[in-house]
Amino acid sequence: MLVVPKLVPKISNMFQVAGLILSFGLILSTSLNHQPLQSAVGFSILGYIVSNYLIPRAAPVFIRKGLSGKDLSKVGNPVLAEAIGVIPAITYLFLMFLFIPFLFFKFLITETSGGGSRDSGHTVLEDVGSLFPHNKLASYLSSILCLESVILLGLMDDLFDLRWRHKFLIPAVGAIPLLIVYYIDFGVTWILVPKFVRQLTGWEQTSIDLGWLYYGYMGALIIFCPNSVNILAGVNGLEVGQTVVLGVLVLLNDLCYLVSPDSPAFETHLYSACMLIPFLGVALSLLKWNWFPAKVFVGDTFCYFSGMVFAVVGISSHFSKTLLLFFSMQIVNFVYSSPQLFGLVFCPRHRLPKFNSEDGKLYPSRANFKEKPLKKWVAAAMLLLERFKLVQLTKKDGIIEESSNLTIINLFLVWFGPMREDQLCSALLFTQFAVGLVCLVLRHTLASLLFGYDNLFLKFVS
Ligand code: UD1
Ligand code: MG
Repeated sequence: MLVVPKLVPKISNMFQVAGLILSFGLILSTSLNHQPLQSAVGFSILGYIVSNYLIPRAAPVFIRKGLSGKDLSKVGNPVLAEAIGVIPAITYLFLMFLFIPFLFFKFLITETSGGGSRDSGHTVLEDVGSLFPHNKLASYLSSILCLESVILLGLMDDLFDLRWRHKFLIPAVGAIPLLIVYYIDFGVTWILVPKFVRQLTGWEQTSIDLGWLYYGYMGALIIFCPNSVNILAGVNGLEVGQTVVLGVLVLLNDLCYLVSPDSPAFETHLYSACMLIPFLGVALSLLKWNWFPAKVFVGDTFCYFSGMVFAVVGISSHFSKTLLLFFSMQIVNFVYSSPQLFGLVFCPRHRLPKFNSEDGKLYPSRANFKEKPLKKWVAAAMLLLERFKLVQLTKKDGIIEESSNLTIINLFLVWFGPMREDQLCSALLFTQFAVGLVCLVLRHTLASLLFGYDNLFLKFVS
């Protein structure tokens, strides 16, 4: 009987060693066959192992240093390590540093006349397989810079509870290098005009140039992605789970291009896959520890970091509009939350569902308006939402006293009744995945009919 507990860690150790050998094998053989996807898988496995090893060891240290939070949806509110997401985030950054030679090495070799002189030097472009050209390195490094600033922001938020205006400003400033590289390297600021608009207005051109407005849009995307992940939160596994689902959806979209090498967007989607595969490795390790019943909290650090990973991938791989389709769930949550976010409706510090220790289930949490009554027109709008079963209100003498908090997490509980925390998280993640799949199919069917063009098939659809 004593053998079993001894064997368990040994088997898991064996898996770890096998994983390490596999990851090094995949990474190192890339130097021969120049297949970046293969090394991305190797780095992903390495990231999972390293992060999975560090998280349980770092958690007690974080608690000792005061980085902890109470799990509000458990009996007795146990204290868990907070901001643990900084470990997978930094693991990812280091992996991306190590990845550089495997992605760009062949293009970095130059021959010179020696003595530090570059007069007769030239870049050697021999058999480079699927490696990326030099200009992509600028994009890659600026993405890393952007991620570094957002990790810093997340950590500051976990330590000092920043104000909303700072949370908005910092990602936008951190993204300046990325936007400058976009301007120099790609600079495309036009968007396609839908076919029916062209037919209705007689507009002959297939696209319209938005100029600087397009940079404003990218800046908004950079602010939106990290913050939208952070407000779809408060249920074990949801913060990191939604980013895993997003990663899988974006990878599926990349795959559509990777199986059609003639596509003009093949290289950019190969690049996107190379950024996302290692991300999925570290995110999965965090999900393991954050899944119900959570052993650690991911913290704002991970929410901002993971949201920014998608923003930089979407921008540097030039599919930011498609990316927004995959963020449908986060967009709906943001729009639905906006009355509370913009102060029209009172927003408590926490909007996560309310835990009932008697049945172990979560119920919609509520915002109370006794101290700050709703304005008349806001109350009318809330009553309208109630008619469509989009909110749960408590009224006294015709006056709204309380409402369920405006998040889709609470809305699920309003619609489907109280649930266990893991059931709620699974339901939300499953819905996110299903909606994302529908968006993916629409992106490559309806959108090509609507715009008359799909970069997947390299042709105009008549
Ligand atoms: C955002 C949400 C807030 C939500 C919180 C939960 C908005 C405007 N803000 O705030 O409504 O309550 O995230 O993360 O929508 N916690 C749990 N269980 C979990 C995850 C978190 O109990 O599975 C609690 C813990 O006490 C943890 C704390 O939430 O310490 C973390 O909250 P924090 O990330 O600081 O909240 P915000 O991001 O500011
Ligand atoms: Mg948070």
